[in-house]
Amino acid sequence: MSKAGFDFVVVSNRLPVDMQEDASGEISWTRSPGGLVTALDPVMKGAEGAWVGWSGAPDFAPEPFDADGTFLVPVPLSAEEISEYYEGFSNDTLWPLYHDVITPPAYHRAWFDVYETVNERFAQAAVEQAAEGATIWIHDYQLQLVPAMIRQLRPDVKVGYFHHIPFPPFELFQQLPWRRQVIDGLLGADVVGFQRRSDATNFMNCVRRLTAVKPRSNIFSVHAHNGTRRLVKAAAFPISIDSQSFSRLAHSEEVKKRAEEIRADLGDPDVIMLGVDRLDYTKGIRHRIKAYGELLEDGRVDAASTTLIQVASPSRENVTAYQDLRQQVEILVGRINGEYGEIGHSTIHYLHHSYPQEEMAALYLAADVMLVTSLRDGMNLVAKEYVAARYDLGGALVLSEFTGAADELGGAIMVNPHDIAGLKQAIVDAANMPAAEARRRMRRLRRKVMQDDVNKWAQAFIASLDEMGQRNETNGSYAPSISSAAEPVEPVARPVGASV
Ligand code: G6P
Repeated sequence: MSKAGFDFVVVSNRLPVDMQEDASGEISWTRSPGGLVTALDPVMKGAEGAWVGWSGAPDFAPEPFDADGTFLVPVPLSAEEISEYYEGFSNDTLWPLYHDVITPPAYHRAWFDVYETVNERFAQAAVEQAAEGATIWIHDYQLQLVPAMIRQLRPDVKVGYFHHIPFPPFELFQQLPWRRQVIDGLLGADVVGFQRRSDATNFMNCVRRLTAVKPRSNIFSVHAHNGTRRLVKAAAFPISIDSQSFSRLAHSEEVKKRAEEIRADLGDPDVIMLGVDRLDYTKGIRHRIKAYGELLEDGRVDAASTTLIQVASPSRENVTAYQDLRQQVEILVGRINGEYGEIGHSTIHYLHHSYPQEEMAALYLAADVMLVTSLRDGMNLVAKEYVAARYDLGGALVLSEFTGAADELGGAIMVNPHDIAGLKQAIVDAANMPAAEARRRMRRLRRKVMQDDVNKWAQAFIASLDEMGQRNETNGSYAPSISSAAEPVEPVARPVGASV
């Protein structure tokens, strides 16, 4: 660190590392797989970056430490805060509300109070790290109050916010008893980024309906702290993956060999279908399995020569809606396997695990048909990973219209997962697609995914934030920092896991 504080600070609910504790109680950290970390790596290293987030464990927040060029700043959460801020308000209020109320959101005043307290803690931790005039980039729905809190504490910094999940239409958002606080929180940012244009439009509608601000375009002005006006930009920045490295991984000898092994282990079926999701009710897993079960029943898919692999990674297991879903999915899978399985051959391979990226790449390579049937999804990066893995131009992608990815991936077979008859037909079409058509579609899909990677996404967001920051500086809506607000913490070098 060359001066007081960091020039670039990322804030997200989770830190980009996973914690491991060995038998002797020794803690080590490995970098979480995922595009966001990779995309921000060059920015973090180039610009003296710090990352503020939760360690993932209750009451565990070690001193800030340096991990492979990024300064990580753990924010503590107590067991009660995890229950009320994370499992409660974030994942049992906002998550279902923002995903078309697929399950009913729970509204509890006590949860919101804790959400506010925890958002304040994240805001405080972020400003403590930020140098004068720094850029702070906040991520996702768990932290929607943080932009305005930071703006209040530090009028000198540029504030960006990216919303990774859908932003609902006003008619749904209206239900939220704290709707005004959330909108005011987000309006603290210079740039509010969304996955799709329709999300940005929904947000601007909510601003129009709930505040005195009446946006006429996607750059509009709000009152600044010092009586001037400040510009806010709301726009779509569709996120992506590290396409090159995923494609390279799929191309490696080990992954190709593993894909062949998977096929052989399954008894070399004619068709392998694949679903890969967090076990979440937004993903349409039940709809997909129901359609598959009916196809077996109708005899349109042959149980002996077809296998469906469903990877369902464990998620938010303390939230009742997730426990219910697990039970429903497992009953459905059990019933179908009971009906159509044979000794040595299950027709559905249901895997309630998370896998490393190498194994995922091998599964994608082995799968003839990829099923992405979300009922609502901000983007869905699994669809993009599948495309990036198919350097061989093989495979067919069935993609729900209700994903952000559907706006971009024109080469997929689009489905409405609520329309079970249509979904069944799409699955049959994908399984029987002539090779030439499949190659043509995959080529088109790859052009998009390989070109628009996560690095381009991050650059576009940051460029937009720089531009808005400069315009606001010129307008005079920024101010020098309030001196007491920012007491930067010196980094402490810490040994970390080898692959951090
Ligand atoms: C979605 C959200 C992320 C979240 C992830 C995993 O992708 O947009 O913010 O981190 O799900 O969920 P979890 O609750 O385990 O963090």
